[in-house]
Amino acid sequence: MKKEKIAVAYSGGLDTSVIVKWLQEKYDADVITVTGDLGQQKELVGVAEKAYKTGAKKVYIQDLKKEFVEEYIFPALKAGALYEHIYPMATALGRPLLAKALVEVARREKCTAVAHGCTGKGNDQVRFEVTVMALAPELKVLAPLRTWEFKSREDEIAYCEKHGIPVSATKKNPYSIDENIWGTAIECGILEDPMVEPPQDAYQRTVSPEDAPDKATYVTIEFKEGVPVGLNGKKMDSVSIIEKLNEIAGANGVGRMDLVENRLVGIKSREVYEAPAAVTLHFAHRELERLTLDKEVFHYKVKLADDYATIIYNGLWFSPLKQALDGFINVTQKNVTGLVKVRMYKGNLTVGGRTSPYSLYDTKLATYTVEDTFDHSASEGFIKIYGLGLKTFYRVNGSKGRKAVKLLRRKK
Ligand code: ARG
Repeated sequence: MKKEKIAVAYSGGLDTSVIVKWLQEKYDADVITVTGDLGQQKELVGVAEKAYKTGAKKVYIQDLKKEFVEEYIFPALKAGALYEHIYPMATALGRPLLAKALVEVARREKCTAVAHGCTGKGNDQVRFEVTVMALAPELKVLAPLRTWEFKSREDEIAYCEKHGIPVSATKKNPYSIDENIWGTAIECGILEDPMVEPPQDAYQRTVSPEDAPDKATYVTIEFKEGVPVGLNGKKMDSVSIIEKLNEIAGANGVGRMDLVENRLVGIKSREVYEAPAAVTLHFAHRELERLTLDKEVFHYKVKLADDYATIIYNGLWFSPLKQALDGFINVTQKNVTGLVKVRMYKGNLTVGGRTSPYSLYDTKLATYTVEDTFDHSASEGFIKIYGLGLKTFYRVNGSKGRKAVKLLRRKK
C-alpha cells in the first residue's frame, strides 16, 4: 500500500505538535506541516525547527498577510460584515485562507490527506473542512482532536515528553487564544462564566480605557473605493495600515468586545475579542458610506451585512452566494472614496469629520440659512399624498370608525 502523506495545518502550539507525531505513529504517515502567517503577534521564529524536531518531513511557512488583508479582510470590511452585529471575524476570515494554503501544499506534495487541530465543538472545524470540500473534494480530512485518546492538556504534555517533542517553556496561559492581524479571540478559563467581567490579564493587545491617554488621539483614514489606502495624509500599503491602526487604537483602549455568541454547532459561547484596527475601520468605513451612498443602497446594504457575516461565520467563504453578494457590494463601493477623521478617546470612537469628492451631502439643500435652495412649497403636496393611506385607515378604523363598528354590533 502507498504510504500516507498528510499535510497538517500547524501552529506550533501543543495540539498541532501532538498531531504531527500522532499521525506518524497512527498512520505510519509522512507529515508535512503548513503554517500561515496571518499577522499573528506571536513570532513564527522557531516554528520550523520545532516542526522538524517533532518529525515533520517537510515544513512550509507562508506569509499570507497581504492576501489575507486584501482578499479576505477587505471584502468583509466593504460589506460591513460583523457577526451578530459585533464580531469582526478575525478567526472566521482566517480559516478559509489557511485551508486554501493547506490544500495547495497538499496538491503540490501529492498528499493523501490533510489534517487540522480544531476541536469537535467549534466553528473552525466546519470552516476548515467545508473549504477543503469545496477546493479539493478528493482530499481526505483528518481531525485528530475529535477522535484521539487524550483527555486533557496534561495527557498531551505527557505524550510530548515521551516522544521528545519540545513543549514550549512559556507557562500555561489560562485562556485559549486565537489571533491574527484582524483581531484576537480569547476564551476559556474564568471567561466561561458570562457573569464574570474579563480580568485585565485576558486582554492581549489593548490597554484598558481607564489607562488610555487623557487626551484624544485623531487619526485620518483615507479610503478609495471602500478600502483604506492611507493614514494621516500618508499613502500606505494595506498591511501597514492595519498594523498601525492596531497600535494607535489599541493604545487608546479601542476595540474590546465581550460577546455571548451563537456558534454554528448550536452552542452559545462567551468570547472576548480585541480588534482595534477592525473596529476603527468598520466605524470609519460606515461613516464614509453615510456620506456617499444613496439612501436606498445604504439601507439595503445594512440588511445584507448580516447575511454576509453569517456566510463567513458559517464557513461558506467559497460559496456561490458569497461570490454573488461580492458583485453587488463591489458596485456599491465605487464612490466610497474620501477621508474620515476618527477621534479616539478612552475606548470610544467618534467622528471628527468626513469628506468625499462623491459626497451626497448638499449644504444648499441642508442649510437653514438664507443660502437654502430647497423648495419648501413642494412639501405640502408630497405630504398630502404620502400620508393619504394612513389618513384613510384612521378615517375607517380610528375613533370615529370604532364607534361606528360598535353601533352596528349593538343593532344586531
Ligand atoms: N468564536 C470565534 C469564531 O468562531 C472565535 C474562535 C476562536 N478560535 C479558537 N480556536 N480559539 O470565529
